[in-house]
Amino acid sequence: MYRTQLCNEIRVAHIDQEVTLAGWVHRRRDHGNLIFIDLRDRYGLTQVVFDPDHKKDSHGLAESLRPEFVIQIKGRVRKRPEGMENKGLETGLVEVIVDEVTLLSQSKTPPFEIDQDKHVGEEVRLEYRYLDLRRERMKKNMILRHQVIHHIRNYMTDQGFIEVETPMLVKGTPEGSREYLVPSRLYHGNFYVLPQSPQQMKQLLMVAGFDKYFQIARCFRDEDQRGDRQPEFTQLDVEMSFVDQEDLLRINEQLMIELAEKFQPNKKILKKPFPRLEWHDAMNRFGSDKPDLRFDMELVDLGELVKDSEFKVFRTALESGGSVKALCVPNYAEKPRSYFETKLTDYVKDFGAKGLAYITFTAEGPKSPIIKFLGDELVEKIAKATGAKAGSVVFFAADEWTVVVESLGALRKRIAEEEGMIPSKLLAFCWTLHAPMFEVSKESGELGASHHPFTRPHHGHENIMVKEPLKALSESHDMVLNGCEVAGGSVRIHEREIQANVFKILGVSPEDTERRFGHMLRAFEFGAPPHGGIAWGLDRLVMIFANEPNIREVIAFPKDSKAKDLMFGAPSPMPEAQIREAGVQIIAE
Ligand code: AMO
Ligand code: AMP
Repeated sequence: MYRTQLCNEIRVAHIDQEVTLAGWVHRRRDHGNLIFIDLRDRYGLTQVVFDPDHKKDSHGLAESLRPEFVIQIKGRVRKRPEGMENKGLETGLVEVIVDEVTLLSQSKTPPFEIDQDKHVGEEVRLEYRYLDLRRERMKKNMILRHQVIHHIRNYMTDQGFIEVETPMLVKGTPEGSREYLVPSRLYHGNFYVLPQSPQQMKQLLMVAGFDKYFQIARCFRDEDQRGDRQPEFTQLDVEMSFVDQEDLLRINEQLMIELAEKFQPNKKILKKPFPRLEWHDAMNRFGSDKPDLRFDMELVDLGELVKDSEFKVFRTALESGGSVKALCVPNYAEKPRSYFETKLTDYVKDFGAKGLAYITFTAEGPKSPIIKFLGDELVEKIAKATGAKAGSVVFFAADEWTVVVESLGALRKRIAEEEGMIPSKLLAFCWTLHAPMFEVSKESGELGASHHPFTRPHHGHENIMVKEPLKALSESHDMVLNGCEVAGGSVRIHEREIQANVFKILGVSPEDTERRFGHMLRAFEFGAPPHGGIAWGLDRLVMIFANEPNIREVIAFPKDSKAKDLMFGAPSPMPEAQIREAGVQIIAE
């Protein structure tokens, strides 16, 4: 037997017992005569003592032990001497006096210390991920992730769902983000792609009659990386038949509340049931479809109020069908004006804003270069509408609606973060419902589906969709936690005609529709039940539960911010023969 106990198990009750432990040398303290080693395994630490007067050989070997060596020890449990107890350690009242030690494996000096929670550069951590995962922080994150998934599997099973695995090699049907391609060896010039999500498969499972499906599903998206994005990530994927949006929200909300209460006992759920915001209201009030509700500072619409003002910036925006909105930040007037005019103005320009007008409300009254255009009376009214008091700064955006809400929404978030306005112990969940069916891509100017083309139009919007696509809302639902989209889904289209209309609006020709989605449309001719679903970003959820700043910290072997695997060195060149076999020709950059 390699071990009779784990390194977190030994207690006062074991005193005088013989034990065998195995693990890593966590820390070694040489007191000349006595050598102390904290022996570590996945479960915890036990202090083991080498005494030359007790066993000379073992003590001799202990002198050569270094951090991260793997050893096995046999010895007797004893009480630690008075005053030497470690209350912070589960095994802190006892220690093992070693009779016999066996060196199981040596270790080179690790590139960073495992026993300390110090900052280590991420490149080194990712290159030596197996060592990084030995550290307490990462180990805790992996265990938390496992426990969350375990709870989810139990819950879904109890609710009558079955987990079905779906393939990783699928057909390319460009519909959302860029796909990863897999060349076919047998059919040169043809490709599989890795699934962006099991979206089509889960809908086909509904046609197949599995009315409650879930999967802990891996998804692949070849898109630019960010803190909350990875090229491969994990979803809790869910689909149900014979349900409406209400049923979907209820079952997902109930699971989320269970998880939050179990895994975040020190945090408070701000509101139960979760507030529900219409997509347009979320955008108008918070400038985001994933509003952070842990703090207030709502945007205020000034369109009515300023429509007759002299200020050209406001007038032009309104006359061309745009909006004027304001963000009032309390206790902010002390900030230097240069900060508003450089840093914050540049920041909103990233969101398309042309400038950032503002009024500072001081004890002596309002101050701003734009007051002369607005007039005292209007400034007074603006103060009233926005709730500005002495110390407040009111920022303005005047532009087309999207630019106005997005730039002020981003500003709201940035200022709240910088000024420490966000309570750390809150879990502010909400749903945003009924996003537009379609949106115009900022890059290409083309009309695209806001979610994906299988999303059902909101009740009564089937005809609006055909006449004025951009006005049509969808039966979509996103779950938001602290300003992060943790899940998204919709009720689906199950009628062939509505589906065909969507493809038509998207400008997909009948031939293209057949080529890309023929399999779906055909399936829908064989009795498709009404259905809908959702997918959770599991990495994001665990990231928030673990208080981590990015999802790499909750993924065992993530890619770096440039989509590279620094440990394996992927992506990597392949032998020429293998490339040829795959029917691929490399084009030099
Ligand atoms: P969606 O694309 O919104 O929907 O994805 C669902 C959830 O997955 C998470 N997510 C990501 N997490 C990490 N890295 C990424 N690159 C990444 N992209 C998305 C988000 C998001 O809310 N098939 C649909 C769902 C449905 O309609 O049922 C889908 O995939 O938390
Ligand atoms: P200007 O008339 O260009 O000197 O701008 C006066 C003030 O209005 C400056 O503080 C600008 O940053 C701001 N401003 C200009 N365009 C806009 C806009 N579209 N929305 C909000 N503020 C703006």
